[in-house]
Amino acid sequence: MLDLLITNATLPDGRTGISVAVQDGCIAEVTPGLDAPAHEKLDAQGLLLSPHFVDPHFHMDATLSYGLPRVNQSGTLLEGIALWGELKPLLTADALIERALAYCDWAVAKGLLAVRSHVDTSDPSLLAVDALLEVRRKVAPYLDLQLVAFPQNGVLRSPGGVENLERALDKGVDVVGGIPHFERTMADGAASVKLLCEIAADRGKLVDMHCDESDDPLSRHIETLAFETQRLALHGRVTGSHCTSMHSMDNYYVSKLLPLIAESGVSVVSNPLINITLQGRHDTYPKRRGMTRVPELMAAGVNVAFGHDCVMDPWYGMGSGDMLEVAHMGLHVAQMTSQEGIRQCFEAVTTNAARVMQLENYGLEAGCDASFVLLQARDPVEAIRLRAARLKVFRKGRLLAETPAATASLHLPGRGDSTSWMVPKHAG
Ligand code: FE2
Repeated sequence: MLDLLITNATLPDGRTGISVAVQDGCIAEVTPGLDAPAHEKLDAQGLLLSPHFVDPHFHMDATLSYGLPRVNQSGTLLEGIALWGELKPLLTADALIERALAYCDWAVAKGLLAVRSHVDTSDPSLLAVDALLEVRRKVAPYLDLQLVAFPQNGVLRSPGGVENLERALDKGVDVVGGIPHFERTMADGAASVKLLCEIAADRGKLVDMHCDESDDPLSRHIETLAFETQRLALHGRVTGSHCTSMHSMDNYYVSKLLPLIAESGVSVVSNPLINITLQGRHDTYPKRRGMTRVPELMAAGVNVAFGHDCVMDPWYGMGSGDMLEVAHMGLHVAQMTSQEGIRQCFEAVTTNAARVMQLENYGLEAGCDASFVLLQARDPVEAIRLRAARLKVFRKGRLLAETPAATASLHLPGRGDSTSWMVPKHAG
């Protein structure tokens, strides 16, 4: 007897009429038309069953703090960093944990079951580190939280930067972070990349650096990151986040850079909502979009994922943990409006993001964890278009969240009563 059998599902790759059999928290079988005895059965009615959403870039220590102690007036990254510096002395562990747990609730409701969060290691008390380690422990039964030691003030620029980061890693933080473009000079930035990659290599850790989050076309730390990845044989373990300077770089240089990134196996995480908000703020008109070259990186064979980065914090006052909103913004900013481009944006918040986090047993195949989302949509394109309701969210076979279908009841003069959920009649 199976624990759970889902029938008549559509999968992201387009297969329809699929049954997914679940036993002991794992997917036992994925096959068309299977019927078998099960403790629980769910008819998907042709709707999309997707592996759960993954956010490979977030700041959970700052989330839901919008307005504390004030709002970012200029809207720039630099004022956000300054504002975060004003907030940090006011933080308490209890309040930080409460906000992070509230955000994780939102995430689960949206089918977001794995988050990589940077945590600021600049404060020698490591208050945020201890708080998020506690959050990681608390949410472990329902959400995979991976932590990155992030020296927000610059690992070389701030006193004790290296020591604090190493102490955070000693406490159990998973990934080595960095912020080379915030160091005092380009040379210091490059030195920080080298140092941090060496720390990761020594400790067998993954690397994820905020890399070139600026509009400066000469900010080229991604080149150093790719070089150090190869030198230290860290292939597949390194991510460059943001990489917004690539938007403004010289095209000839980029034609040399893309193959170097691909060759090194460095993944790139773009954060569309935040990049379109923070970048280009020093421009008059035309204003640059500031997002990295997503389709070009993908075409070069680089693993590219989308992150949410911020929700209601010193840098960004919007957001709800909805990775379909992230994908929606990503496809607009990158002009990835072909059917293939939209599907690639869906992969950027699912499979590609899971690759960044090196999640084990992720996917919709026999042997994978039974961690998936039933969406009120019939394919990934419709899911993004509608920011579709997450009807059911399962983790390891257990139902974690349910949301009612979004359906409007219409009472139109001369038309009578009807219902609508924004799906064209010809779509099935
Ligand atoms: Fe970030």
